[in-house]
Amino acid sequence: MKQIMVTMALCGAVALAACAVSDLRDAPGEPVFENDHARMMHLLGIEQLRPGRNGMDPTHPNYANYDEATSNPYPDLPPLLELEDGTPVTSAQMWRAERRPELIELFDREIYGRVPADVPGVRWEVVAEREGWAGDVPVVIQDLVGHVDNSTWPFISVDIEMTLTRPAAAPGPVPAVLSFVFRPPPGWEPPEGWSPPPGPTPTELVLARGWAHAELVPTSVQADNGAGLREGIVGLANKGEPRAPEDWGALRAWAWGASRVLDHFEEMETVDASRVGVEGLSRYGKAVLVTMAYEPRFAMGFSGSSGEGGASLYRRDNGEILENIAGSGEYHWMAGNFIKYAADPLGWDDLPIDAHSLIALSAPRPLFVGTGLAEEGDGWVDPRGIFMATAEASTVYELLGAKGLPIEDMPEPGTGLTAGELAFRQHLGGHTNGPNWPVFLDFAERYFEAGQGD
Ligand code: GCU
Repeated sequence: MKQIMVTMALCGAVALAACAVSDLRDAPGEPVFENDHARMMHLLGIEQLRPGRNGMDPTHPNYANYDEATSNPYPDLPPLLELEDGTPVTSAQMWRAERRPELIELFDREIYGRVPADVPGVRWEVVAEREGWAGDVPVVIQDLVGHVDNSTWPFISVDIEMTLTRPAAAPGPVPAVLSFVFRPPPGWEPPEGWSPPPGPTPTELVLARGWAHAELVPTSVQADNGAGLREGIVGLANKGEPRAPEDWGALRAWAWGASRVLDHFEEMETVDASRVGVEGLSRYGKAVLVTMAYEPRFAMGFSGSSGEGGASLYRRDNGEILENIAGSGEYHWMAGNFIKYAADPLGWDDLPIDAHSLIALSAPRPLFVGTGLAEEGDGWVDPRGIFMATAEASTVYELLGAKGLPIEDMPEPGTGLTAGELAFRQHLGGHTNGPNWPVFLDFAERYFEAGQGD
């Protein structure tokens, strides 16, 4: 803190913002680190991390494991329906009042980090509005910016970007799906030969149901890298300081952004904030699970190919592993504290929770967990690990009076287990939500339209 203030005083007014984030020292006399990841390791007293798996080169000695026979070194998962002191959780009331808060505390401390109590507020502004079409549905499209109040630290601005497409004509407030979207940086050119996937876009599919589709740009909330942790909402809430080990990472920051969109919907007359689902793929599939866990106002989730750090079990050795997430390219998704599990003597089995615990935090709300096929390029996410974690979470759904997965063995690819509140489907394609979208929307319709118009 002191060091940063000194640096800023020397900077002068012109380049204050840049200066405010340029120094990685915690205090005078502290070493200057190569990057924030190295600094976090130092803070945790870690000298070396075990390496992550190589996902690209099958000849690499540390190439990812895809052999099911050796994928389960730790088959026993931490119990869901047992308090930390060993007391069995036998009622919905006990889950809500005791076990759920315990799990939230563990995820805060060990995995995703804590949101500070005083994160500044957001003021939404419609910056553009136009009429158009989503397929053959007439729509109104709004570009919105959520300005975060930065009066306590004006050196960092956070302007959340979101586009909302809603039916031009609707009899009343409509349900909505909020997607975390990848938005290419300005000037980005698609690689040669790239073309958008065939068929209707998610927006067209959602609008065809008569609902609204919001697309949130997570990187406008928090950058997708470690260097950005002193900027974005994490940096602003920390007044430009680097993170402490239990501070929030990007996944919780993105989830926080989704909650702010919901705040805006609560103010709107055209969207029904009590019927909003949240969707995302891959790192944003992880963000969906985190959002659902921490934000009870989201009615439903659709998490696709979320993999390590999302729905696949940390205790599995298949595809991506914990050490990849703890490495310098991905650790920023999590609390700094998480990386200690990639350093001896701690290992995967020391985590007091796992992916099934995360999924259980959505219960009893409808949650659709998707994945693609390993043979089509989705092996890195460990589809079977995703299924196993989802199946395990079923006990919590059942305790809360909802339906979990009906079977314990992984179904044939392309078979949706969508009859209950907790749904699973491995589609026949690769690392995409595309083929699961229509199945998810049928699932969602069951809940969103139930009792409507009676
Ligand atoms: C990498 C990363 C995954 C992540 C994915 C993505 O493959 O290892 O954990 O889900 O990127 O978000 O595209």
